[in-house]
Amino acid sequence: MTDMQSPVLVEFDNGIAFVTLNRPEKRNAMNPALNARMLEVLDELEGDERCGVLVLRGAGESWSAGMDLKEYFRDNDDKPRDITLKARRQSGNWWGRLMYFERPTIAMVNGWCFGGAFTPLVSCDLAIAAEEANFGLSEINWGILPGGNVTRAVAEVMRHRDALYYIMTGELFGGRKAAEMGLVNEAVPLAELETRVRKICASLLEKNPVTLKAAKDTYKRVRNLPWDLADDYIYAKLEQMLFLDKTKGRDEGLKQFLDDKTYQPGLGAYKR
Ligand code: ACO
Repeated sequence: MTDMQSPVLVEFDNGIAFVTLNRPEKRNAMNPALNARMLEVLDELEGDERCGVLVLRGAGESWSAGMDLKEYFRDNDDKPRDITLKARRQSGNWWGRLMYFERPTIAMVNGWCFGGAFTPLVSCDLAIAAEEANFGLSEINWGILPGGNVTRAVAEVMRHRDALYYIMTGELFGGRKAAEMGLVNEAVPLAELETRVRKICASLLEKNPVTLKAAKDTYKRVRNLPWDLADDYIYAKLEQMLFLDKTKGRDEGLKQFLDDKTYQPGLGAYKR
């Protein structure tokens, strides 16, 4: 998986799986080969104990320049509809998988981020950008609207006026603006980006992974549910989590605080 020719690279380091979109010569534009490989990579990582947190980054000076305008769009224009639909499914499938990935996911936005790249960006649980990164909903600049669920992704995290402004103008905005609008959690200087992301990973790696998965999925699912259904869903998830957690983390956490007095939940996680 470290083949330099591969459109996606995977490297492991102390519980972190760094997944790199690897078409720097094309600014990591997402072509069908990259999309197909990403789906395989997510499958491979799901059961891999070396992946405690997944960090999605881009090779070179881009995070991703969005969909590959040649290979994803123009090359498919004259092909039969089933080919177009297959290409759509390939990208949609890996973004969907990313949204509910088994482990926490962080988009580490090191550079250009355009159009179709907003969907995997929003699908990641967290996003940390370089202040120097540049974002753009550039679809309007070449005559389409933000498809590939980009419009939905933007509506999920950006304010109404901001979303419409950038959808309609296609203007570039930087990392700090992305953070101010809620598109990313925070922006830091590029030179500090990896250090900051590693620090967040370290915090996540201390937590119970079964609880993390249940907590993030529950948040993502219930925000669009009415209160009564949400309440029911949350309790169902909580009970499922207790069933799935063979380490009995909840009991251990209570014991370490109430009996052993070795930690305080308000100030950090119990020792696993
Ligand atoms: N699709 C296909 N090829 C791309 C893409 C893309 N999205 N982005 C860059 N490339 C290719 C260029 O065609 C060029 O290929 P070539 O070397 O064979 O000529 C190569 O990558 C380098 O691109 P440059 O434009 O020379 O790189 P530069 O660093 O000057 O600019 C930038 C980078 C600003 C990202 C520019 O390439 C660009 O505007 N790309 C398109 C961004 C975009 O609008 N993406 C589509 C969003 S809409 C959607 O995703 C549905």
